[in-house]
Amino acid sequence: APEGLVDPFGRAIRYLRVSVTDRCDFRCHYCMSEDMTFLPKKDVLTLEELDRMCSTFVAMGTRKIRLTGGEPLVRKGLMTLVRSLSRHLESGALKELTLTTNGSQLATHAADLAAAGVRRINVSLDTLDPDKFRKITRWGDLSRVLGGIDAALAAGLRIKLNAVAVKGFNDGEIDDLIRFAHARAMELTLIETMPLGDIGGERVDQYLPLSEVRADLERRWTISDATRDDAATDGPARWVTVGETGGRVGFITPMTHNFCDSCNRVRITCTGRLYMCLGQDDNADLRQALRESDGDASLRAAIVEAIGRKPKGHDFMIVPDTGAGASVAVARHMNTTG
Ligand code: GTP
Ligand code: 5AD
Ligand code: SF4
Repeated sequence: APEGLVDPFGRAIRYLRVSVTDRCDFRCHYCMSEDMTFLPKKDVLTLEELDRMCSTFVAMGTRKIRLTGGEPLVRKGLMTLVRSLSRHLESGALKELTLTTNGSQLATHAADLAAAGVRRINVSLDTLDPDKFRKITRWGDLSRVLGGIDAALAAGLRIKLNAVAVKGFNDGEIDDLIRFAHARAMELTLIETMPLGDIGGERVDQYLPLSEVRADLERRWTISDATRDDAATDGPARWVTVGETGGRVGFITPMTHNFCDSCNRVRITCTGRLYMCLGQDDNADLRQALRESDGDASLRAAIVEAIGRKPKGHDFMIVPDTGAGASVAVARHMNTTG
């Protein structure tokens, strides 16, 4: 049996998030600044290197791989990587191969993803209003994303929608998002804004604690906590069931209720850095170990060493910016870390 990775706090690390590119065709306000510059292509792992990296993790007990970005589907040749990694699904070593996408290219790739063994994907969708969608993504076309969602459902993929709760932006739309998701048998997760990277604005203005959202939802919907078995995924969300729709809503609350105690994941950037926590800067350069030799011994050693440094939890805080960048707890943007 494959060995497992266990961190110093006894947490088994079985979920690997892999950012395959820092590029994205959108510029969501909470994620990137408008003038974001992207990494030179030579710094980014090749598809072969990504494959080796993922496969080594699988051999070390990873059970779930989520490809992220940036936007994973803008990475050239991504489907080749997905098809190659699906051999680990076939062997039974990997339980889930999935991705988190903004949906803009989903119509093109949905059927191929399903054919490669992907069962379930997460699609980011913060609003159902085309004008607001254009605003939050800075130029995105909502109809393309909705077309992508339809295509994915038609291909038999299960979908979880991700909506970042942004104060004064989509807080009046949560009911619509619930209806939209549940009418299509999709789950919806609401996410608290995390202070990741300088976005050239005030995080404090955008931040909406989900405890408030839940209290508000309870005025109109019958909300009950889902049991553990009923949880839709093994990710960080805490799930509730909505009586009126029978569907589920997940709350991802890194700010008001952190879930670090049950953390089961690490993440790799598209340049091959392993981050042991989304909310900490400590990382290990696995690209060097990867490029050092064709065998995986030094890569394995570097991974084991890094997991031994996984911190207990993040130390995000959203505090007013004093002018010294105090509202930025972590300098990396979400699109580099995935
Ligand atoms: P599931 O497998 O469907 O549960 O996926 P997920 O929720 O883990 O993945 P997704 O990519 O959809 O992420 C949704 C949100 O959860 C994003 O805003 C992530 O940044 C956040 N998230 C995922 N993992 C972590 C984590 O380890 N720590 C924190 N603070 N946030 C996380
Ligand atoms: N805080 C919370 N969620 C974020 N995302 C991107 N940036 C942030 C942030 N600063 C979300 C996206 C996507 C998921 C991968 O991360 O909306 O759904
Ligand atoms: Fe792109 Fe996703 Fe970031 Fe939006 S949140 S800019 S879709 S990576």
